[in-house]
Amino acid sequence: MEAKTFVVCLLALYFVCLVSAKGGRREGHKKLRPSRSIYRRPGQFRLSSSSQKTSFTEEEKSKLLNLHNAYRSMVIPQAANMRELIWDKDLEEFAKDHVQNCTGAHSHRSMVKRWKPNEPNSWKEWSYMGEVLYYRYSHWYSIEEAMWMWWSEGKDYDITTNTCVKGKECGHYLVMTTAANSRVGCSINVCQKFSVSKYPTPATFMACVYDAPYFHTDRPYKVGDVCSECTRQKQGYHFQYCRHQLCIGPEQRFRKVGFSGNTSVTGI
Ligand SMILES: *[C@@H]1O[C@H](CO)[C@@H](O)[C@H](O)[C@H]1NC(C)=O
Ligand SMILES: *[C@@H]1O[C@H](CO)[C@@H](O)[C@H](O)[C@H]1NC(C)=O
Repeated sequence: MEAKTFVVCLLALYFVCLVSAKGGRREGHKKLRPSRSIYRRPGQFRLSSSSQKTSFTEEEKSKLLNLHNAYRSMVIPQAANMRELIWDKDLEEFAKDHVQNCTGAHSHRSMVKRWKPNEPNSWKEWSYMGEVLYYRYSHWYSIEEAMWMWWSEGKDYDITTNTCVKGKECGHYLVMTTAANSRVGCSINVCQKFSVSKYPTPATFMACVYDAPYFHTDRPYKVGDVCSECTRQKQGYHFQYCRHQLCIGPEQRFRKVGFSGNTSVTGI
């Protein structure tokens, strides 16, 4: 690794954040209040080579899913209606199509998937869907770093007043903790050039997209006793059960697959 590296993450609907990490870890987390320790940097991220990479392996997809669910189950204050996410191949395909395009920017239009099990093609609609991006100069990436960068913006967000500290970015955190999301799909690519953004290349470009529409003016979830408002939400699908602080539907419950409740995967 060279000393001069930097990482950028971008978020749907015009938020951009830029973090520079000059040759090593930052120590800024020491100043955080104890209640905010859930956002501390979990240590040095191990980078993997992204040369030749055009998608995530099954193991990486399951890591992405587990990290999402672990973080979602950890939100403070607690969530009354946070859903467990499952992996979605259509969303993954959308993310793949987007990162293959090497714009270095957000997709122009986003797909919102609606739950209509008997009409497999009718639930693809175009709208504003949550989309988070991760960008890293050169052929290196870390799933843990990407997820932590999005998550750690939560330290600047106050759900009581629904405000973000002035001059800070909270948008990625808001997208990944949107309670109404129940599906996620992510992909990765290496771009030799970006057609829209001016970020230096070659670069690793990664995107995660979610199934629920994203409104940056709304609170991401409802504060309350854990799972106290799981039942009967929109989109004709019931998330009436609770498992490891997250709302799940009958399918997840009866198949007994999904998030194990292990939040140590975050390293926090
Ligand atoms: C990728 O580029 C193609 C060709 O320009 C375009 O049709 C498609 O919508 C783009 N995909 C995304 C997700 O933006
Ligand atoms: C939880 O995750 C950590 C980190 O990945 C792992 O070391 C540990 O074995 C897991 N615990 C259980 C009970 O699976």
